[in-house]
Amino acid sequence: MLNKKVQKAINDQITAELYSANLYLSMSAWFDSMNLKGFANWMRVQYQEETFHALKFYDYVLSRQGSVTLAGIDAPATVWKSPLNAFEETLKHEQHVTSLINNLAFLAQEEKDLATGILLQWYVTEQIEEEANAEGILQKLKLAGDDPGALFMIDNELAARVYTPPAAVGA
Ligand code: FEO
Repeated sequence: MLNKKVQKAINDQITAELYSANLYLSMSAWFDSMNLKGFANWMRVQYQEETFHALKFYDYVLSRQGSVTLAGIDAPATVWKSPLNAFEETLKHEQHVTSLINNLAFLAQEEKDLATGILLQWYVTEQIEEEANAEGILQKLKLAGDDPGALFMIDNELAARVYTPPAAVGA
């Protein structure tokens, strides 16, 4: 049985992950409208990853005989100043999510909830990758500057990203 405080915090995190999913899907649509199909693909895969993050928490709550309580999700932005600005916002958002995950891990410790602590180890590790991915693309965009050729090279690279459900690789 899940402790009520932990359950409430995980339900809040499900809402946060679903917001992340919508944010990146909105970015995907915006990149698509600019004909940057590789960036759009990368963000669409990111949307799938965030949906997985939400569902992993959802499945966990149910597996502990807890109650899933879905809440309203704020509308994400629909336009950004530039690809660089979209990735600045992505990195900022991921840093925020990392702090939410860390707070959840501290709460699990305070409440002596070992099982939730183990689940959260996966998310703590995942956030390292989430921030590194956003940071890596942000650095490339900074190097590209105003060179359209460099932007299209990054776009080509991001077109190759494929969604791999973590369960399929044993995570
Ligand atoms: Fe669910 Fe991008 O962290």
